[in-house]
Amino acid sequence: MRMPQPLADAFNHQITLELESSQAYLQMAAFFEAKSLKGMAAWMRVQSEEERLHAVKFFDYVLDRGNHVRIGSIEAPAADFDTPMAVFRAALSQEQRVSESIASLYKSASDAADAASFPLLQWFLEEQIEEEATVSEIIDQLEFIGSDGGALLLLDRELGTRTATTNEGA
Ligand SMILES: [Fe+2]
Ligand SMILES: [Fe+2]
Repeated sequence: MRMPQPLADAFNHQITLELESSQAYLQMAAFFEAKSLKGMAAWMRVQSEEERLHAVKFFDYVLDRGNHVRIGSIEAPAADFDTPMAVFRAALSQEQRVSESIASLYKSASDAADAASFPLLQWFLEEQIEEEATVSEIIDQLEFIGSDGGALLLLDRELGTRTATTNEGA
């Protein structure tokens, strides 16, 4: 059952946004690599992969509905950061932007009475709550750490233990 075109356009926009997020996280990984904060770099790489999986999840959904996929142009990510804190703050605002976009996608689906889209969008709404919470926690921890280099290295080590998620429900 095909989606009405405006709704398909909104899903295509979301695919582009998830790819943009993926690029942004990869760029953030480069910042941490350059600082030899290997754990944070690894965390960002995993996050970048996860965003790509999100894009593909929307991609598959649009195709399954019989609509056309049109990936939009991807904006160059921010690349100049001063501190790990600045990077994670940028990550949080990016996640907030994505959350808003999914909420508006949900509204478009509601307005179009396209109930078939609800379960997927529900999954993403929950995913966004989790992602914002995770990044906020890291920001809180960085605040405690302040200029304590030893504590920063401990957090770096901890974040490096993150492994790729299975993206259950995909
Ligand atoms: Fe995402
Ligand atoms: Fe995300």
